[in-house]
Amino acid sequence: MEKHYSLQLKIHRFDPEKKRAWVQEYTLKAGRILRFVDLFRKINDEQDPTLAWNSSCEHGQCGSCSVRVNGKPLLACELLVENAVEKFKTTTFNIRPLSIAPVVRDLVFDIETAYERVDQAKPYIINAKPTVRTGRAYTITPRELERYVNATRCINCFCCAAACMSSPKSYLGPNAMLAGIVRVMDPREQEKSERLKLIYGDRGVQRCHTSQACTHVCPKEIEVAHFIALAKEGRFRS
Ligand code: SF4
Ligand code: SF4
Ligand code: FES
Repeated sequence: MEKHYSLQLKIHRFDPEKKRAWVQEYTLKAGRILRFVDLFRKINDEQDPTLAWNSSCEHGQCGSCSVRVNGKPLLACELLVENAVEKFKTTTFNIRPLSIAPVVRDLVFDIETAYERVDQAKPYIINAKPTVRTGRAYTITPRELERYVNATRCINCFCCAAACMSSPKSYLGPNAMLAGIVRVMDPREQEKSERLKLIYGDRGVQRCHTSQACTHVCPKEIEVAHFIALAKEGRFRS
């Protein structure tokens, strides 16, 4: 018979109309391979339709379902009940939104405000090499790609930003830095100086304390701290 767990979810809620914040406890039975997004949906269906949360792809690709579970920022669509019980050694879970932007409602934070920091890093090619501009294929050698392909897997879930000990007021954050570093390492991009100004500017990599928390929580297994360390060493200045 399928194993079921009896779970306690203590969810941090926020009602923007009443400006009221509180913790609501839900008790539910769940099969071992349900994911945390399934638990939220189960709560909506069976107990409380007012609980608000975010998800889109539900396959670890869009970054919209990130929450903090028992202190750890993670993707709710990737966390299975049985893995959560094993990982945290409990069936009680404290769930709150990431504290990287104002909360809109319950587990939903203001994604536009969160993205403002990434936007500053211009996560796109500003000035492409001529071959790219004329629409011809630009060949990147496997050797060139190997240097930075790991960093291109970022889905901007903001888990690293939530785990980072540096203040978002003084630091643009690990995923914003990564976005800039990827394009500095991208051989198709000609505009390096504008990017380096940002990476080495007041809100840039000098604010990183090398704690490696970003790497530790990244659901895409990107070595975020490694790329930031390369920048701190001045590897991209020449
Ligand atoms: S670097 Fe990893 S943790 Fe940070 S936003 Fe990208 S995918 Fe998420
Ligand atoms: S290594 Fe740097 S960027 Fe990463 S979490 Fe620590 S302080 Fe933040
Ligand atoms: S819903 Fe897309 S990453 Fe979780």
